[in-house]
Amino acid sequence: MSAKDKATDKTKNGAKPNATKAWSGRFSEPVDDLVKRFTASVGFDQRLAEFDIQGSVAHARMLHAVGILTAADLEAIEKGLAAISDEIRAGTFPWSIDLEDVHLNIERRLTDMVGDAGKRLHTGRSRNDQVATDVRLYLRAAIDHVQTLIKGLQRALLDLAEQHTDTVMPGFTHLQVAQPVSFAHHLLAYFEMLSRDAQRFADCRKRVNRLPLGAAALAGTSFPIDRQMVAKELGFDGVCENSLDAVSDRDFAIEFVAAGALLMTHLSRFSEELILWMSPRFGFIDIADRYCTGSSIMPQKKNPDVAELVRGKTGRVNGHLVALLTLMKGQPLAYNKDNQEDKEPLLDTVDTLMMSLAVFAGMVGGITVNVERMRAAAREGYATATDLADYLVKKGLPFREAHEAVAQAVRFAETRGCDLAELSLDDLRQFSKLITADAFDALTLEGSMNSRSHIGGTAPARVKAAIAKARKMLL
Ligand code: ARG
Repeated sequence: MSAKDKATDKTKNGAKPNATKAWSGRFSEPVDDLVKRFTASVGFDQRLAEFDIQGSVAHARMLHAVGILTAADLEAIEKGLAAISDEIRAGTFPWSIDLEDVHLNIERRLTDMVGDAGKRLHTGRSRNDQVATDVRLYLRAAIDHVQTLIKGLQRALLDLAEQHTDTVMPGFTHLQVAQPVSFAHHLLAYFEMLSRDAQRFADCRKRVNRLPLGAAALAGTSFPIDRQMVAKELGFDGVCENSLDAVSDRDFAIEFVAAGALLMTHLSRFSEELILWMSPRFGFIDIADRYCTGSSIMPQKKNPDVAELVRGKTGRVNGHLVALLTLMKGQPLAYNKDNQEDKEPLLDTVDTLMMSLAVFAGMVGGITVNVERMRAAAREGYATATDLADYLVKKGLPFREAHEAVAQAVRFAETRGCDLAELSLDDLRQFSKLITADAFDALTLEGSMNSRSHIGGTAPARVKAAIAKARKMLL
C-alpha cells in the first residue's frame, strides 16, 4: 500500500475508514490490502468505460425528464462525463484501484469535477444493473464488429474460390482420397459455416439488446423512472422484464462465447487443412511469406504459424465457454460478485475472435494454389471409382453389384500400379460386360465433377452459381 493510500484509509481521529470507497459508511476498519487487490476489477473492466458513460448519460437524461435531476445538474453531469471520456481516450484518466471498478472510478471523478450533481447520478440505480448494461452495450458493439469481420473473411474466400471453380482436388473422407471436387467447392463449405456463425451472432444480439437499468440492485427502484426512455436512448430493443433476472443472468454472454467457440472451431478446422496442404507431402498450396514465420535453427523452414495459432487459440475460447457456464451454475439469484469474473473470459473471447478473423482474411488472400499437385493427387486414389459404379447402375446393374465389380477393378488396377482410366477396355470388361468405351468419360476427373450438377454439387457451373448467390448475400 502506498503512503497516500494509507493516509486515506486511516481510522484514527474519527476519520472514516475506507474513505475512498463509495460504501465506506458501514465499515469500522479499512479493507485489507490484499482483499482490495483481490476484489478490484478496474484493471480489466476499465475497457467498459465508454459504455459506462453512455449508460450514465442516458440514465441522467431520464432522471431529468421525470423531474429527479434539475436541468443544471444534468448539464453538469453531461459536461463532466464528456470531459472524463476525453481523459480516458487521452490516457490521462487517474484510474485507482482504491475505487474498485470502472463504475466507481468514473463516478468519483465526476463528483470531483462537478460536485453534488455527480453525487446525484446514482439515484435509482445500482452497480448491479449498471454493470449488466455496460456489458450488454459492449457486447452489442462487439457483435457488430465481429459480423463485419466475418463478412471480410467470406469475401476473401469468394475471391479465392472464383479463381478455382475448375481446379480439381481430391475430396477426402477419413483423410483418404474419396472423390474429385473443385477447390472452389471446398472453400464454399467454409463460406456456409461462416454464414451460420453470422446467423448465430445475429440471433444472440437480439437477446443481448435488452436494457437491465431500472432493476437497480435487484428489486427495482422506488423512483418514478422511465425505463422505455432509457432503452430508446441507448438503442435497446426493449427492457429486461424481470429485475432479478436483469441483474443476475449472463446467459447472453455465454451464448456469445458459445457462438464464438463454434466460429473458432470452424477456423480451426480450416487451419488444420491449410497446415496439411502447405506441408511438402501435400504441396497443394503456398501461403504468402508475410503470413508465415521461420525457424531460429532450421534455415529451410517456413511455418504456417498463423493457422497454427488460430487452431491453438480455439482452445482458449472453448475454455472461456466452460468458465462462464461454470461461473453461472451455482449462483443463487440475484447478483453475486462471482459475476465480476464474466469479464476477462468475455473480453478475451472478443479480442481473440477479432484478431483471428482479421488475420485469417488476410492469410486467405495470400494463398496460392499448386493446381498441378492437386490434380495429380486427385488422380492417385481411384477418386472416380464411384463414377464407374454409377455408370454401371445407369446401365441396369443393381448398385451393390456395381460396387463389387468396381472394387475388383480397383484391386486389379492396383496390381498394375495404374489408375482405372489407364486400364484398357478389355481389362475393364473382365469385371462387367456392361462396360463399353463411353465408360472412360465417366472416369475422367472433369466428367466426375460435371456430373454432380444439382444444388450443392461440385460441378463448375453449379459452383459458379453458388459463388454468385453468395456474393449477393454479402451485399
Ligand atoms: N465490478 C462489479 C462487477 O463486475 C460491479 C458490480 C458490483 N456490485 C456489487 N454489488 N458489488 O460485477
